[in-house]
Amino acid sequence: MLNSVCTGCILLTAMEFHIRHTWDSLPVHREEGLLMQVNAPFFNDPPAPAGPPGEPFPGLWDYEVVESFFLNSNTEQYLEVEVCPHGQHLILLLNGKHNLPLSFNADTKNKIWKGEALLPWRYFPQGINKMNSYAIHGSGAGRTYESLYPVPKEDLQEGQGPDFHRLEYFQNFTLQSIMGEDWVQPESDLWNLASK
Ligand SMILES: *[C@@H]1O[C@H](CO)[C@@H](O)[C@H](O)[C@H]1NC(C)=O
Repeated sequence: MLNSVCTGCILLTAMEFHIRHTWDSLPVHREEGLLMQVNAPFFNDPPAPAGPPGEPFPGLWDYEVVESFFLNSNTEQYLEVEVCPHGQHLILLLNGKHNLPLSFNADTKNKIWKGEALLPWRYFPQGINKMNSYAIHGSGAGRTYESLYPVPKEDLQEGQGPDFHRLEYFQNFTLQSIMGEDWVQPESDLWNLASK
């Protein structure tokens, strides 16, 4: 079963993993999560960060990235996911945890990049009810910040720069809208520790 919500050029897709078997019939347990698929224009600007693909890269937000934020607006806990066309990624939890591992692949062809990240459920705080996403590229004065849910014009202050943590401009989103209303989010060891 595959459900998807299209959010601009960011495709968030939920996938149910069926238990697979190895050649000797042992079940392979894959951690389930939300499959985040990116299909975006590739600018190759700025150039690739100096870190290996497949690894977390601190400060990835200064490069070409697509970011998604998943927020519980009551507790203000959120998961921030950053993925780069060159294969690096960065996971940030509001409680300060970062550099968590991520199954993420990226591929660039001509002017398009495609990426696929499996976000484990344990990375999500309970009660996600809002989200926002950004695509960032370019250098210097040409640095461009695209937002799925931008700050409305009338709310802009003079001299205001982009700030991705303006949680009040996030819009409604639940994991249940993808997984089904009856779906119950697994407990997260990461967030349970954080709230103690
Ligand atoms: C967002 O969700 C809240 C709470 O469920 C609801 O009251 C509100 O109408 C929703 N807003 C939109 C724009 O759907």
